[in-house]
Amino acid sequence: MKKFQIIRILILVVFLLVMGAQTVSAQYQLAQDAYAIFEKSCLGCHGSGGFVAAVLLIEDHSVLLEKEAVVPGDPDASRLYNRLLGEGGALMPLGGPPLPDEEIETIENWIAAGAPDWATLPISTVNHTVSESLIRSGDTFTVDIGAENDFDSAKWQLDIAFDPAALEAVEVGEGDFLMMDGGTTTFQAGSIDNAAGTITGVTAERTGDHGVMGMGTLLQVGFKAKSSGETKLTLKNIQFDAITAGDVSVEPYEITLTVEEQPIAGDVNGDRQVNILDLVAVAQQLGQPVPINSPLDVTGDGAVNILDLVRVAQHLGSTAAAAAPPASTENISPTMVEAWIAQARLKDDGSLDFKQGVENLQKLLASLIPGMTALHRNYPNPFNPETWIPYQLATAAEVTLTIYDMNGQLVRGLPVGHQGAGIYQSRSRAVYWDGRNQRGETVASGLYFYTLTAGDFTATRRMVILK
Ligand code: HEC
Repeated sequence: MKKFQIIRILILVVFLLVMGAQTVSAQYQLAQDAYAIFEKSCLGCHGSGGFVAAVLLIEDHSVLLEKEAVVPGDPDASRLYNRLLGEGGALMPLGGPPLPDEEIETIENWIAAGAPDWATLPISTVNHTVSESLIRSGDTFTVDIGAENDFDSAKWQLDIAFDPAALEAVEVGEGDFLMMDGGTTTFQAGSIDNAAGTITGVTAERTGDHGVMGMGTLLQVGFKAKSSGETKLTLKNIQFDAITAGDVSVEPYEITLTVEEQPIAGDVNGDRQVNILDLVAVAQQLGQPVPINSPLDVTGDGAVNILDLVRVAQHLGSTAAAAAPPASTENISPTMVEAWIAQARLKDDGSLDFKQGVENLQKLLASLIPGMTALHRNYPNPFNPETWIPYQLATAAEVTLTIYDMNGQLVRGLPVGHQGAGIYQSRSRAVYWDGRNQRGETVASGLYFYTLTAGDFTATRRMVILK
């Protein structure tokens, strides 16, 4: 028992000596690689669930050392290494193909490096948080880079890479990680290169004779978002220096950020332009309660009212896309716009915004009211069996459409009723004829005339039914 303990202590001393000479990260990598080989080729039999577990538990680092299957620092004296070469018994893995040379070499190197334990080597990880949950282009925001480690760390360093087209680094500030337990530090903010998209040489070092362990913030980096879209930040050359061991490197760490586009004032339907459709969207909800932060409540006063409409009207024509298609005036009638203007006047607060809004509504009204009343060409033409007859009214009028045949005989009268000034072009607004006469019979192929009467105005055009 005593002899056994002495051997253990000796092994530990050798282990620590070899450890000190190497960087912890290299040790850690070797131990991980060796364990991966055991896991793949040995644990099926030598693992705690395997049928020869009693012979040698390879997954348990301490068992390997206790049974001296592994002699740290001396591969040739290690039974485990010799068995891989087929010496001192059957070739391992038993019954399977021999391990490839490079895997045998990895295990040899691992033993030569002192057979570090894969379970207890120091580990460091980095993490991050972003100050804003929603970043829009043009915004500034801060990325906090944090760390968590389980060893005495007294120094760290890292570099940052980012896309200079998407982000601009503004400033780098130190976090509290190394200041835990009231430590003092020296910090170097590194150098920002916004042309290359790098921040290099960021480092902090703790003065005194002991390091820190646990969680904290390494640094805070302020950025400005230059354009929208998804962009990546990479932390590179991350290294922590342990007082008791060596350096611990951490794999590069990637942060993905999404930058949203800046909203366009008055764009309530989110199509990146302000046009009639936005006016209609607000008009449809006039007087209705809407959820908090609804884009329809442009003024943010908790309701959709004429003030929101005026505000949208103020921004009519603003657009993000250079070649935006003009929105149709389909859903909007001059009467509606007239009513809006009347309502808006009652609420006039004399502000410039208000003035612009009402002016734009008046321009819109003007564009909706044609200069003169007219009857337009029917569509389709020739047709079978139905057609639409568009017209426009400069002033409100009683409208009737009458259809005659080639001989001037009445075929069908289509009373439209009282119509406001405006353009009646679309299928939903033009006069519809189903190609039937007064008795409901479909009429024969041939030439027909249609006459529009609107107040004092009359006009006639021709059309052709082709069957
Ligand atoms: C198919 C099951 C099987 C696999 C897989 C296997 N072994 Fe073995 N191993 C055995 C058996 C059975 C024995 C005991 C008989 C013997 O010594 O030959 C043994 C014995 C050993 C011994 C000697 C025990 C001692 O205490 O000295 C070592 C070392 C060993 N194996 C290492 C390995 C290594 C390393 C691997 C993976 C690369 C491996 N074995 C894969 C079945 C296996």
